[in-house]
Amino acid sequence: MTYDIRDIGLADRGENRIAWAARNMPVLRQITEEFAATRPFTGRRIAAALHITPETAVLMRALQAGGAEITLCASNPLSTRDDICAALVVDGMSVYAYTGEDLTTYQRHLDQALAHDPHLVMDDGADLIVALHQRPSRGSTYLGIEETTTGVVRVRAMAAAGVLSFPVIAVNDTPTKRFFDNRYGTGQNTIDGILRATNTLLAGATVVVAGYGWCGRGIATRAHGMGARVIVCEVNAIKALEAVMDGHQVLPMAEAATKGDLFVTATGMAGVIRAEHMLAMKDGAILANSGHFDVEVDVAALRKLAIASTTIRDHMVEYRLPNGNALYLLGEGRLVGQVAAEASPAVVMDMSFADQALSTAYLFEAGRDLPPGVYDVPPQIDERVAQLKLSALGVQLDTLDDAQHRYQQEWQLGT
Ligand code: NAI
Repeated sequence: MTYDIRDIGLADRGENRIAWAARNMPVLRQITEEFAATRPFTGRRIAAALHITPETAVLMRALQAGGAEITLCASNPLSTRDDICAALVVDGMSVYAYTGEDLTTYQRHLDQALAHDPHLVMDDGADLIVALHQRPSRGSTYLGIEETTTGVVRVRAMAAAGVLSFPVIAVNDTPTKRFFDNRYGTGQNTIDGILRATNTLLAGATVVVAGYGWCGRGIATRAHGMGARVIVCEVNAIKALEAVMDGHQVLPMAEAATKGDLFVTATGMAGVIRAEHMLAMKDGAILANSGHFDVEVDVAALRKLAIASTTIRDHMVEYRLPNGNALYLLGEGRLVGQVAAEASPAVVMDMSFADQALSTAYLFEAGRDLPPGVYDVPPQIDERVAQLKLSALGVQLDTLDDAQHRYQQEWQLGT
């Protein structure tokens, strides 16, 4: 086993935090017990590029309990928890990551993970999948799992360009992932990150949310719930309409830029907040991003515009503009909830990572027969994860009886 982490001495601290996360992940706990009994991954090597959090550790342990040899690297240079890396190395995993690694190190860690010649790559943002395609082929066949919206967009683009060379399951797109993790998890972690970085008051503030997809809707709902006036910027007519009917104002960014106290991007798109918007903003406006890559707020443009910059607090830099105004950028424009807070809570990651774990087992069983392409999580996995979660929460639901099943197939009965 090899590794490249900050400090192995942090393992005990990591262990406590993993135990706390695991307490709140009953679905993954049950899956771990099943994997330990059936050992579906014996002899299999899995390389994962994920936000290395306590919840991720619980997923890695589930796969390891199933017999997998695990290699782990970061999916973002700022989201790695060094204590969690240490605990996983003590578990016998090869971990290549530390928080604040520069981009060269980040790429080297991806390469080091791939040097373990994995049978399956598990990704969050598709950096590992792309790196695998850029390496000289070892003639192996691979399997892939992708966790987030932006990664799914990337692997679909690879498939459309005819370059994707193995099957990838789009875990992000399954309801038990994006309805919950993206909406409730990101909704909460984004607000959490902003508050920890700024200690600002949301009540009475004007919050501009760019993108009203699963994440944006979660962020807007929570900001509104804390007393903010929410303005939404969208490019999709249906999403914009939804925002209007949810009670938010919808404006183009050029206009919203003049009104916001706090800006949050969650689009998966580049260049959403640009220099012309920054120059139109109020003195003191705060900029944060929750989308996967640090491209939504044009940070390079902000740095170029600024005549001075000062680190004011952890994860907050003040940029003085030539017009005399100051803008405050959080977390270097990277996912604010991962950088300044603790990512999404275990309760919700329980479902996302149960989807990942069960999709991994499914791919090892069925994946060799799948041609290269992007695949949905099989619906029976989604249904099972929802049932397990409800049962862990002690929630019971109704079932259709025979007469109701027959009614469903009856077309002659009507008015
Ligand atoms: P989504 O596809 O549901 O929503 C994105 C929305 O942004 C769409 O409605 C789209 O029309 C809109 N949009 C695109 N370009 C725009 C522009 N220039 N201006 C305004 N709106 C624009 O995607 P989802 O699931 O909400 O994910 C958004 C981003 O957040 C992705 O990068 C994803 O990978 C990331 N993500 C972050 C998480 C976190 O913890 N921070 C967790 C899950 C996803």
